[in-house]
Amino acid sequence: MAQKPYIVVLGNEKGGTGKSTVSMHVIVSLLRMGFPVGSIDVDARQGTLSRYIENRKTTSDEMEKPLPLSTHIPLLMSNKSLKEDAVKEDQQNLEDAITQLASNRFIVIDTPGSDSPLSRAAHSIADTLITPLNDSFIDLDMLVRLKSDTLDILRPSTYAEMVWEQKKRRAMRDQGSIEWYVLRNRLSSINARNKEQMEDVIQALAKRIGFHYIPGFGERVIFRELFLKGITVLDLEDCKIPITLSHVSAKQELRNLIQMIQLPEVERLAA
Ligand SMILES: Nc1ncnc2c1ncn2[C@@H]1O[C@H](COP(=O)(O)OP(=O)(O)O)[C@@H](O)[C@H]1O
Ligand SMILES: [Mg+2]
Repeated sequence: MAQKPYIVVLGNEKGGTGKSTVSMHVIVSLLRMGFPVGSIDVDARQGTLSRYIENRKTTSDEMEKPLPLSTHIPLLMSNKSLKEDAVKEDQQNLEDAITQLASNRFIVIDTPGSDSPLSRAAHSIADTLITPLNDSFIDLDMLVRLKSDTLDILRPSTYAEMVWEQKKRRAMRDQGSIEWYVLRNRLSSINARNKEQMEDVIQALAKRIGFHYIPGFGERVIFRELFLKGITVLDLEDCKIPITLSHVSAKQELRNLIQMIQLPEVERLAA
């Protein structure tokens, strides 16, 4: 039997933390290593990843040498009125999408910034889950409730509990496990005190909640500029965009991410 694709899911229950941006960067990293990659946008109503990929096709069509592309499927949430029916339909649609993409080595799934049965189903089939977190206590609240004066950990949040539940679901279904990575995004070079406090809390949480911690990406204008062209920091040379110091740092941050999540068959990228 052919090997099953390895599934990477980007998720958290908050919008604007970089799920779609990081999805695209993971997809292109894997494509540029020569792997066939499938992608699914479970957040098709917002459709950021789907539009990102459409923009990439448009850019690629105008180029002499085309850009590597994933085989992409956007999925809409079921609109069946009975919850049970909706959950079943979501599950079926996701399974069908995975079957359609079965010839790929990797499938990257982008999820919405809110809880839904479809998003839960996507989490439950993850081999690797990446949760990007903006550099603020508002975002940290998505993982854990903190005591405001001492920053003591009070209890895991609903999202952390949801991930636990999906880990159990996964284990029961196929004895598989979900490797969970929390990635800090949009780190600012100012406000060092906030940064240190966040670091301490995340390190403590990593052990308690059971995720790996990745330092992640700095706040960089380039990430906001790439979307319209559908490109990533790995496509700049091909698109003849002059490379700045910030681009070099962004590429290094991406390389670190890919190395740290230790995907199967992924050789260490050339430094
Ligand atoms: N490291 C970064 N530096 C600057 N802007 C970023 C960074 N990561 C993401 N962004 C921007 O933040 C916004 C939200 O990112 P997006 O990937 O759409 O988040 P999500 O999918 O979690 O809602 C987008 O405008 C994106 O370009
Ligand atoms: Mg998104």
